[in-house]
Amino acid sequence: MRVRLLGTAAGGGFPQWNCGCRLCDAPGLPPRTQDCVAVSPGRAADGEDARGADGDGDGDPGWYLLNASPDIRAQILATPELAPPAGTRATPLRGAFLTDAELDHSMGLLMLREGEGMPVWAPRSVLAALCEAFPVRRITSHYGAGWRWTPIPLAHPFAVGGLRVTALPVGARRPRYATDVLEDVAAGVWTVAYRIEDPVTGGVLVYAPSLADWPDGFDAFVAGADLVLLDGTFHSAAELPGAAGQAHLPMTGPDGTLERVRRAGDADADAGGDGRTRWLYTHLNNTNPAIDPGSKQAAEVEVSGAAVPSDGAEFVL
Ligand code: MLT
Ligand code: MN
Ligand code: ZN
Repeated sequence: MRVRLLGTAAGGGFPQWNCGCRLCDAPGLPPRTQDCVAVSPGRAADGEDARGADGDGDGDPGWYLLNASPDIRAQILATPELAPPAGTRATPLRGAFLTDAELDHSMGLLMLREGEGMPVWAPRSVLAALCEAFPVRRITSHYGAGWRWTPIPLAHPFAVGGLRVTALPVGARRPRYATDVLEDVAAGVWTVAYRIEDPVTGGVLVYAPSLADWPDGFDAFVAGADLVLLDGTFHSAAELPGAAGQAHLPMTGPDGTLERVRRAGDADADAGGDGRTRWLYTHLNNTNPAIDPGSKQAAEVEVSGAAVPSDGAEFVL
């Protein structure tokens, strides 16, 4: 499975257009587009796969988006693998999985309206929000006939295009634009993490860009993963007024994700493990000082056994 990090910033990107903070203003820090990932089954560097995993018989397994960022147009143009085959008006994109209905993870669907539409998988509440409060589904239906919206099972694997996908609930906070509607689904699952397995290569990716806490079952969910993409919104709960109420577990603090990464590394070493799991942060907010590779906070991330990747980073699992 190939994994391409199309964008690694939280909503607003980095730098943020209306922010003149020390980080947004710093010369030389690489810009980041908003969090979005593309995955393709199989291992071949040219995207070809003998399985023809998407079933259309052309031998191309295609690519699946994990979230659809408002920057998707620039992200696709910056990624040769996502270009249309020469001479065609087509796309290697075969569908999208949404972790939540936040604008930074769903607005990109509107940007894809020039295409024919694609299957979208998401939690039931997210699909309801995209029908009512932010009517992406109604809008896109007037542009392409190929949009399909499928609610995902929770904590129960399902198969898509040769990949085995499992979703774990990791948050119950509704998007701000949906706080006053959808009372019937208000108690539902609003955020999931995905575990994506390629049964042919054995590669395992976990994508968790929004983690309200470290829920029961998350350790088992990440067990044996080659790559875990973790919520890197905040370095500390004190970083932004209201950060503590934002449903993003910070990196630091006794319950922070860095402590979890350290513990996982220790447990793996104690068990004589192979150190297989690579931990990377995504959805980095412009307030997070670890966004600066020269900062002591970035060094602390590395010492803990994790890293802050750049936009465009690619992995073969
Ligand atoms: C989040 O990740 O919490 C949201 O994207 C924040 C927002 O845009 O309101
Ligand atoms: Mn966000
Ligand atoms: Zn800033």
